Amino acid sequence: MDSILVTGAAGQIGSELVPALRERYGPDKVIATDVRMPATPAAAARGPFEHLDCTQPEQLREVIRRHGVRTIYHLAAMLSAVAEERPQTAWNLNTGGLYAVLEAAREYRCAVFFPSSIGAFGPTTPRDATPQDTVQRPTTMYGVTKVAGELLCDYYARRFGVDVRGLRLPGLISYTAPPGGGTTDYAVEIFYQAIRYRHYTCFLRADTSLDMMYMPDATAAIMRVMEADPARLEHRNAFNVTAMNFTPERLAAEIRKHVPDFAIDYEVDPMRQAIADSWPRSIDDGAARAEWDWSPAYDIGAMTRDMLEKLGARLKPAR
Ligand SMILES: NC(=O)c1ccc[n+]([C@@H]2O[C@H](COP(=O)([O-])OP(=O)(O)OC[C@H]3O[C@@H](n4cnc5c(N)ncnc54)[C@H](O)[C@@H]3O)[C@@H](O)[C@H]2O)c1
Repeated sequence: MDSILVTGAAGQIGSELVPALRERYGPDKVIATDVRMPATPAAAARGPFEHLDCTQPEQLREVIRRHGVRTIYHLAAMLSAVAEERPQTAWNLNTGGLYAVLEAAREYRCAVFFPSSIGAFGPTTPRDATPQDTVQRPTTMYGVTKVAGELLCDYYARRFGVDVRGLRLPGLISYTAPPGGGTTDYAVEIFYQAIRYRHYTCFLRADTSLDMMYMPDATAAIMRVMEADPARLEHRNAFNVTAMNFTPERLAAEIRKHVPDFAIDYEVDPMRQAIADSWPRSIDDGAARAEWDWSPAYDIGAMTRDMLEKLGARLKPAR
């Protein structure tokens, strides 16, 4: 049956990756799964949905067997800010879920996609143009689970021949599903507030520089790395990918080109600021460009225009 299984499908990435996969491979081939229902009944109706806790090996095996799954996009995880509040739960979900997925993939010969993050780097990593292969000593539980995950994926590829591939994604910006509690969530919230109130209070400092990507580029990158010619892949797993780099101040200036009276102020959240300060200011995605022709379509200008247009069609100004 050669089906595709997506864990954590009701989240920010899954809400756009599942439709993109269904468009490419056919609606019935893609089994969306999560521990919560999709955000809208319409989304659930567009193809198969199963309730699946990815930390439960027997549930995973049963769904894989029943649907003839050959590829697993493993998105279920706890994001950086929430993970710092509940580190024990984050370890169990992020590491336990991945382990269960890799074991099932080994048993049923499935390929696996694993999303790592710029959070897999830490304060001792070179912070500008962070190389593909470099120091990874993160100081957050999220980062610890992502480094452990990258290593576990490499191990299953080398030891058991599981075709595991992955990306280190930067902050993702989208208008479909709300972000799930990450340090870069401000770059999504700011658009909702700009349209509704023409004002946003940012939880990161004005000069906090981080890499970002618009969701259409992220779903394209995920599908492209999974389809890449294995003979060209030197890294396979944990490719640095990026599309743009900005600070809250710079994003506010870009929004002001379309919403001239938009104002931003700052109430810094020390916990999320500390996470951002431990991450790279920018990353080098040369390996992804060289090994599978990665090239993003959206820069900050194109992304801002599209976000305001798509959200503007849905949201009304509050006053
Ligand atoms: N969004 C980003 O900016 C970003 C950046 C880099 C990496 N990532 C990674 O991409 C992946 C997906 O991120 P996202 O933004 O869509 O996250 P999200 O928080 O929006 O969604 C995660 C989903 O996982 C589900 N889930 C939680 N526990 C589960 C369990 N036990 N079994 C099955 N599902 C469960 C949740 O219900 C949720 O729908 C994560 O691994 C994340 O670390 C995200």
